[in-house]
Amino acid sequence: GWSMAEFVERAVPALRRQLAGARALCALSGGVDSAVAAALVHRAIGPRLICVFVDTGLLREGEVEEVRSIFTGLGMDLRVVDARDRFLAALDGLADPEAKRKAVGETFIRVFEEEARRLEAQVGAIPFLVQGTTYPDVIESGGGAAATIKSHHNVGGLPADLEFQLVEPLRDLFKDEVREVGRRLGLPPAIVDRQPFPGPGLAIRMIGPVTAERLQRLRACDRIVREEIRRAGLEDRLWQAFAVLTGTPTVGVMGDRRTYGEAVAVRAVTSDDGMTADWARLPYEVLDRIARRLANEVEGVNRVVYDVTSKPPATIEWE
Ligand code: XMP
Repeated sequence: GWSMAEFVERAVPALRRQLAGARALCALSGGVDSAVAAALVHRAIGPRLICVFVDTGLLREGEVEEVRSIFTGLGMDLRVVDARDRFLAALDGLADPEAKRKAVGETFIRVFEEEARRLEAQVGAIPFLVQGTTYPDVIESGGGAAATIKSHHNVGGLPADLEFQLVEPLRDLFKDEVREVGRRLGLPPAIVDRQPFPGPGLAIRMIGPVTAERLQRLRACDRIVREEIRRAGLEDRLWQAFAVLTGTPTVGVMGDRRTYGEAVAVRAVTSDDGMTADWARLPYEVLDRIARRLANEVEGVNRVVYDVTSKPPATIEWE
């Protein structure tokens, strides 16, 4: 394989030529691919790149602040759009996982389009759209015209009818190469070594309806799971580790009182590519700390179960 130093060295002048004096827009998802694509294009055209990060309200705790500090720290023009209420409204009353995905995807596109128009009114024409499409994305979507849009059930997917010319500098790269490019461009491990997080976010980690209260509950659970995994030094060995609100009402006891709460599932898997996965043999002590903290610290949680199914037959996510 070619070295990623060489890749960056070639890609930057090529992007400079392709974008010849024009502006570009990039929707950051918080994930590795869009971050690296943005950093690379920023290296080429500097302030002519504008990044948009939509706060869907479906993100993990601290994620908005983290993205903001990392990208503004790199000197990039980042606009954070607070669309939390719109996503909640779009999800109102929906319980079916695919309906939730669709609502999140459509709302994302609408919010992004509006922001793009607003920005164009502010700074003038923005003809280019930067996307973090990678080689596996191209393969997965069949290599046709649609392949250029990273749309497979993804929040990062944008409508083909937006009048942008697509810039996809990572199209030939595999994930580990993308990470290497990101490191070379000065992106911190918090971004480059990040575990995958689904586009629809926390909305598809709670069986049943999405409400502000359940989002707050799940965000607290997710923070505890990630803290304990990190504290145990296991983060790098896991593909993903997270909490799921199962929607199952459950009875508990505290002192001489019965409590009524929701069972939370903990999911941790190892995987090479997400296509197959094995449940992680987490040490009992780690599971114990996670379970105690979830039940003690998170309002409405009085039972914790650990998911011991692999993929297949189960998927990694619960919905
Ligand atoms: P499953 O649950 O299908 O997940 O075994 C495989 C990988 O894909 C992620 N995933 C998603 N990513 N939008 C995304 O961007 C989605 O709707 C979605 N559903 C699952 C999942 O987190 C895992 O890494």
